[in-house]
Amino acid sequence: MRSPLPDYLLEVVDACASDRSGALADYIPDLARADPERLGVALSTIDGEVYAAGDVDVEFTIQSISKPFVYALAIQDSGLDEVLRRISVEPSGNAFNELSLEAGTGRPYNPMINAGAIASHALVVDGLSSEDERVERVLEAFSELAGRELHVNEAVFESEMSTAHRNLGIAHMLRAQGIIEDDPEEIVRGYTRQCSIDVTARDLALMSATLANSGRQPQSGRRIIDPRVVRQVLSVMLSCGMYDAAGDWITTVGIPAKSGVSGGVIGALPGQLGLAVFSPRLDEHGNSVRGVQVCERLSADTGLHLM
Ligand code: DON
Repeated sequence: MRSPLPDYLLEVVDACASDRSGALADYIPDLARADPERLGVALSTIDGEVYAAGDVDVEFTIQSISKPFVYALAIQDSGLDEVLRRISVEPSGNAFNELSLEAGTGRPYNPMINAGAIASHALVVDGLSSEDERVERVLEAFSELAGRELHVNEAVFESEMSTAHRNLGIAHMLRAQGIIEDDPEEIVRGYTRQCSIDVTARDLALMSATLANSGRQPQSGRRIIDPRVVRQVLSVMLSCGMYDAAGDWITTVGIPAKSGVSGGVIGALPGQLGLAVFSPRLDEHGNSVRGVQVCERLSADTGLHLM
């Protein structure tokens, strides 16, 4: 029998398309040029079956959705103890671009905010690696997670670097605190390239389904992330993935998630599926308005909520 899922996803997309609230991110000049009307949702089961509706093959830069995956690489490459010594796992309650360093330890509150993600990037490969090696490692891992070769969007990278004063400021503070030991400008360049990797909603559904599948990519069957690392990553996504809207998200949608300023949102339901929505207009927290709405509907209609 044909699955009713594609028709259902189309209904959800149609129902959410009329909401034109929110605004494009414009602190990265190139993102303000996105088509605000785009809306797509893709869902991958842990068996690698992908269901999709709307603009699921349009490329956009991954932005903060890169953070949980690079956190996973940092743990795999540098070890959990070393990562925890430098990055905490507490919700910050602040916006993603605040410095948010924990009193006493000087660690960024968590790896989902920019400060923690910049620190994670520095721990990829082994903390002694070069800028190019770190970016190469991230690109290769993301390509395996998505099941196709991904690339850095150099135009978005250049655009973000032209206004990256906050992230540069954060990286210099991290260097002063000894959280990162490399050149802060190199780390911010690598981190910004990591955020500028082009993906589609279909790619992101497979990437999140890999988390839902204990680290094994559902289509290739390859183990990319260790199951214990997946547990750490999903836990941090659940408490910190939607920034200062994390509490709202947990109560309404109720699954580990991550958003990005180009309009993507991913969610992973362990043992079942990964989902991804793309729609560029953002709310005041920097989360996609229609992305959150689509997930709320899916959760209400299909009982995705973990509790
Ligand atoms: O560092 C930044 O500000 C961006 N490259 C990523 C921020 C982001 O996606 C926040 N998400 N909502």
